[in-house]
Amino acid sequence: MRTTHWAKALLLTLLLPLAARADEGMWLPLFVKRLNQADMQKKGLKLTAEEIYDVNNASLKDAVVQLGGFCTGEFVSSQGLLLTNHHCGYDAIQSHSTPQNNILQNGFFAATRQEEKQNPGLFVDILVRMEDVTGKVLEGITSATPEQERTATVQKRQRELADNAKENGKYVAYVRDMFGGNEYYLFIYQRFGDVRLVGAPPEAVGKFGGDTDNWMWPRHTGDFSMFRVYADKNNQPTATPQPGNVPYVPKKHLPVSLQGVSEGDFAMVFGFPGRTQRFLPAAGLQLTLDQTNPARIKLRDTRLKLWKEDMDQDAALRLKYASKYAGIANYWKYYIGQNEGMKRLKTVDAKKAEENALLQWIAQDPARAQQYGDALNVINQSYAGIREFNLSTQYVNEAAFGTEIIPLAARLMPLATALKAGDKASIEKAVADLKGPLAEHFKDYSAPTDKKVFAALMALYMQDVPQNQQPDVFQTVQKQYGGSMPKYADYVFSNSFLASEAKLNAFLAAPTLAKLEADPGYKTYQSVYQNYVQNIVPKLQGLQAGLGRANRLYVAALREKNSQKVYSPDANSTIRLSYGTVRPYRGRDAVAYDYKTTAQGILEKEDPTNPEFVVPQKELNLLKLKDYGRFADKQGNLPVAFITDNDITGGNSGSPVINGRGELIGLAFDGNWEAMTGDLAYDPELKRCINADIRYVLWCVEKLGGAKHLVDEMTIVNNGPNPGVGPAAAASTADMSDVEKMKVKTEQGGKVKIKKKKDAAML
Ligand code: ARG
Repeated sequence: MRTTHWAKALLLTLLLPLAARADEGMWLPLFVKRLNQADMQKKGLKLTAEEIYDVNNASLKDAVVQLGGFCTGEFVSSQGLLLTNHHCGYDAIQSHSTPQNNILQNGFFAATRQEEKQNPGLFVDILVRMEDVTGKVLEGITSATPEQERTATVQKRQRELADNAKENGKYVAYVRDMFGGNEYYLFIYQRFGDVRLVGAPPEAVGKFGGDTDNWMWPRHTGDFSMFRVYADKNNQPTATPQPGNVPYVPKKHLPVSLQGVSEGDFAMVFGFPGRTQRFLPAAGLQLTLDQTNPARIKLRDTRLKLWKEDMDQDAALRLKYASKYAGIANYWKYYIGQNEGMKRLKTVDAKKAEENALLQWIAQDPARAQQYGDALNVINQSYAGIREFNLSTQYVNEAAFGTEIIPLAARLMPLATALKAGDKASIEKAVADLKGPLAEHFKDYSAPTDKKVFAALMALYMQDVPQNQQPDVFQTVQKQYGGSMPKYADYVFSNSFLASEAKLNAFLAAPTLAKLEADPGYKTYQSVYQNYVQNIVPKLQGLQAGLGRANRLYVAALREKNSQKVYSPDANSTIRLSYGTVRPYRGRDAVAYDYKTTAQGILEKEDPTNPEFVVPQKELNLLKLKDYGRFADKQGNLPVAFITDNDITGGNSGSPVINGRGELIGLAFDGNWEAMTGDLAYDPELKRCINADIRYVLWCVEKLGGAKHLVDEMTIVNNGPNPGVGPAAAASTADMSDVEKMKVKTEQGGKVKIKKKKDAAML
């Protein structure tokens, strides 16, 4: 199935004027040559497939890293300097901030290497290589293999392949499935555990527009921060920050172009998209729409309001909760937008129509009916079953684990196991392992705030989840606290050592199982957890096993039916490339959006009375003076952001936007409101990728941040089209018509040619 599919795709690429769409698709770099190169070159790519992905020679993939497992970053200097988004660095920036030295608020750029700030726990993964291991994973497995046996074999082989590739801890490696388990790929990385904070603009720049502008275009956010990767003296990774480490010399770093973008320009985004579900069946979409998302929205709404109440009262608390708040608010708004979009775009109906067409196609042929016949039935039945228990899952995740005390209690599980076994060494190890995480937890913790959140979220849990699926602890609440969750919260937070760092440390100095099991915080967690594991999980497991098989068949059938279409696999935090063009869009009836924003818009949005739209005084001064230097565009404006039709999602944040010559032109940082359903269904007319223009980023570093030394570390390949700011500026002709180019050429007497050669040499 798989080989025929790729072979067909290849044949079609050769015979037809291209099957792969430029816009939709998060492509595996491994297959760029086979699937996308021709289309990309037609769109404006000047590089070869080998310059994008090559195992033996430096290629673009060596400049792109996964940051902390949740974002993307890219090398922009030979000294390991890394660019990513502000919201990707937010947690690190916040962790180095205090009310006295508030770098989150004021911004920060290290003047020397000594000032770069260590972030224990933060790492980057750099891809060594990837491999199609489908044949190895599925060897000997047929449609007759019982599902349980298949699952066990597949999991075992995935583990073995990964373990083998790790070369005794030298690499991080894992096998991920694609297309619902029809294909498997091995990914091998080097992991660098010394990643230091180098700089960030003030939050008022890096998060300008706040939650109001989040997920929206037009945008005026300088959403970037800078880190540096450190390695040992031999340029090899270390697991943690080490005093003797030196800046890592990457195999490849991206040259930076100041030339800017025009409508229709080629753009590609390289990065680590987290999760899309474009193959989610209609029943799955329906469940998300009318049960999962509303539950998440309601619970996050409650949590955010309570956090905000306290954050508004107290500056220190505001700092402590800033990063948590931003993260929860980000996806709270995402779920709202996704649901709005699903209704507006009738996403479920569209999927149903696609499924009906598939059913007809399956019915046309007895062999197909035999192979795929029951897939959609099983899917629909499975979702009907899952629906009965889905609220339990959502409320465990977003209510119980939406508090801070319950996830903290969960961290004590290994200690509980060790205490049960009574083994002194493992008890000591469990206690030692807790030291770092506990310090981090309490550094940003307010027990009175958490108590309020606990009272509200657990009350909703007790109110909304079916009675027969509730944990025992709610009976205690009913019987001993008159059903009042606030009263129960009072009791838990006054008596649990989990609510106080000092009390928890006292417990850990002489831990016993009896004390742990008597703790009201731990008891609450145990009740929620045991109930879920014993009463809910077994029901879901049965349903999910059937669903796994049915999904696999459904995706296989869909790809076979539409064999003329080249599908890209759903995002799963593995490295992908998407390509497209700089492109405006029409958001809704009578509303058309331009493809770029400028600093003018910052001044238009500026509102000193609204914390989300404050512009720092220094930026105001510089903007009013129009002090843009070489970062201005052709019209003399300061470019801020632009949009492309690249297909991205969460996890891509911080990804490089790269022009046809392999030069950095922007940082991807968001998606647009009209296409919030993009992770479930892609609409090429609506979906846009929002990028910070690299010229605004560099302006913020050099002019606003006074850190020219960091810009000087980069490889700037041309100085942009702004006239009168240096000799290189006038020579850039890429945006001119041929006639204009001729004119410049005559006026400058051959200068164009010389510049062009230099550009080519940089690649
Ligand atoms: N929506 C962006 C993303 O998920 C995050 C933007 C962060 N900014 C904010 N105001 N929360 O990548």
